[in-house]
Amino acid sequence: MMRPWVTLSFAQTLDGRVAALDGSSQWISGPESLHFCHRLRAAHAAIMVGVGTVLRDDPRLTVRLVAGRDPLRVIVDTTLRAPLTAAVIRDGAAGGTILACTAAAPDVRRKALQDCGATVLTLPEAVAGGVDLAALLDALGERGIDSVMVEGGARLITSLLRERLVDAVAITIAPIILGAGPIAIGDIGITTLTQAIRLRNATWTNYGADVVVEGVIDYESG
Ligand SMILES: NC(=O)c1ccc[n+]([C@@H]2O[C@H](COP(=O)([O-])OP(=O)(O)OC[C@H]3O[C@@H](n4cnc5c(N)ncnc54)[C@H](OP(=O)(O)O)[C@@H]3O)[C@@H](O)[C@H]2O)c1
Repeated sequence: MMRPWVTLSFAQTLDGRVAALDGSSQWISGPESLHFCHRLRAAHAAIMVGVGTVLRDDPRLTVRLVAGRDPLRVIVDTTLRAPLTAAVIRDGAAGGTILACTAAAPDVRRKALQDCGATVLTLPEAVAGGVDLAALLDALGERGIDSVMVEGGARLITSLLRERLVDAVAITIAPIILGAGPIAIGDIGITTLTQAIRLRNATWTNYGADVVVEGVIDYESG
């Protein structure tokens, strides 16, 4: 069974923040790089975010700014906190949405989301708590999903990198400074420079005022 290719994609400020202190993050990046983001969405079989992002931003996670089909949406949501009114659930969107939870999710939530048309996947719990992300990727692979674009937020990004489950990145850096607010990537178990995660053949492309850094992760060089 093939685990899908995982591309990490988010927008950060010059000082590495993915949101302001009040949680607002739309939009850190400009319209040109947003266009790039939608092209990347259309090129992946699935888009994944943590439930924190659904609760804060209520994203639609669809392809709108370019031609292309909408990828499957995957929400990592241990106890199924995503509301039925979320944009990824309401108005028929649930039919293209998978919620990944654990056995800790209440049956009543499971049923309510399934009644809306969503697919609920019950996965093992990770040692550190939350959904076992390797098991989730394996389950997506079994469903024929060969590529996943992870759009955030900070906690999901950090977990995936800590577990070395990310294959490539496309990180947008906007020329703005916030000084406070969540940073994209927290502690991923690296304590010295020789352990740094490095990108192979990194490219830097200007989109309007932003720069998008793309590259494949080379875990061997760390
Ligand atoms: N700048 C950008 O590109 C961008 C993109 C997306 C989001 N954001 C911002 O990021 C913020 C949200 O980030 P966040 O860190 O609070 O939320 P998040 O990463 O979207 O979601 C985190 C939640 O996912 C659930 N989860 C389940 N299993 C997990 C696991 N193994 N590892 C990590 N999380 C797991 C946990 O909630 P449960 O325990 O309930 O399951 C956890 O609290 C918002 O302010 C949003 O605006 C920015």
